Amino acid sequence: MKRVGVAILGVGVVGGGTFKTLVDHREFYQKTQNVDIVVESVLDNNRERALSIGVPEEALASSIAEVVANPNVDIVVETIGGCGVAKDFILAALRQGKTVVTANKELICKFSHELEREAKRNSCGLYYEASCVGGVPIIRTLLDGVQANHITSMMGIINGTTNYILTQMAQSGAQYEDALKEAQRLGYAEFNPTADVDGFDASYKLSILSSMAFHTKVPFAKIMREGIREVKATDIAYGKELGYTLKLLAIGKNTEKGIEARVHPTFIPSTHPLASVNDSYNAVFLTGDAVEDIMLYGRGAGSLPTASAVVSDVIFAATHSEIKYSTFKNTATASPETKFVANFESAYYVRLSVEDRAGVLAKIMGIFGKYGISIVEVAQKGKENETDDRVPLIVITHKSNENAMKNAAAKINASGIGAVESIVRVEK
Ligand code: HSE
Repeated sequence: MKRVGVAILGVGVVGGGTFKTLVDHREFYQKTQNVDIVVESVLDNNRERALSIGVPEEALASSIAEVVANPNVDIVVETIGGCGVAKDFILAALRQGKTVVTANKELICKFSHELEREAKRNSCGLYYEASCVGGVPIIRTLLDGVQANHITSMMGIINGTTNYILTQMAQSGAQYEDALKEAQRLGYAEFNPTADVDGFDASYKLSILSSMAFHTKVPFAKIMREGIREVKATDIAYGKELGYTLKLLAIGKNTEKGIEARVHPTFIPSTHPLASVNDSYNAVFLTGDAVEDIMLYGRGAGSLPTASAVVSDVIFAATHSEIKYSTFKNTATASPETKFVANFESAYYVRLSVEDRAGVLAKIMGIFGKYGISIVEVAQKGKENETDDRVPLIVITHKSNENAMKNAAAKINASGIGAVESIVRVEK
């Protein structure tokens, strides 16, 4: 039976889960995959942590040089994270002809062109299923499952922390700050929550996934990004009354006008399959010209779910002699032929505070009309506090575009009769 040696760099949450999965399932893979996958080497600057999860003393390496010089190591798994030593270690492994499996979304988003060039130069693989949406096999689906299609759209809940926070806000009416504190207490959100709540994590993943789906590089810089810090529980509640659920969506569309790539809070109809993806769960909803709609759902993070993705790449690399690289020209920046749409079309939910007197509604509608924005629905609400001199007005629009909505909002704010309190894009 073919024997394949693996080294794991970093045995924290994901690396530890990878070690456990490979050790616990070794005989299972011998039977089902006809390959003996052996953890040969582990590098972690916390030796105690490595020993505590059962790494044998003799497998502990003391440097990356020792790992990559080990002739029994065929595949190097990087589960350190970030763009510091992780990048240097991966390059060192590739230069020694080792195939690399990584769970590192930021590194793949920003540097996959450079890493892939090195992998090709040394005829070794570079696989990163675990970089996007944890245990959900979205990368293999894009590479192997739906390649018959032109993928026209992708909508994903691809950050579990923000989905947990928004689910709490929707279910208990909690404000953002309180829901964030609860997410931090439970260990979903980090002490510094920026990467998740400001949409960076989702944008790294969207860059990787939309590049694959649309067969052209979609760099991080081309992604419009808005996080969830400004989301108000009151908008989630008003949206719910109108039949909408608020999610932080990562959206990629390939239209005749070009590619749209954006991450922002979005209302979707509460009947949409993505609306029932709650708590820290993730899902990706894909549309292809032949297959129509597909949804993949599961755990986007966590030790064993992410290890499931890492190990699936290890097994692929261990059982295939052919190497699979990106299905697009993997460059640092977008190719000059690729058009990106910044002024994209969307429907909108708008919450205004307006004076409650005759003629105000007509004037507000007149301003929307002047910018070509057609209205689907208007709901005037009662005063939120007795002392308020204005009332909330909720407007749902037909499809318009970003510039028209920004201009209309500025005009309303300058008019003195009302103020735009929040704008949420709506996907129908
Ligand atoms: N922090 C991410 C999330 C998991 O909340 O989904 C790793 O990408």
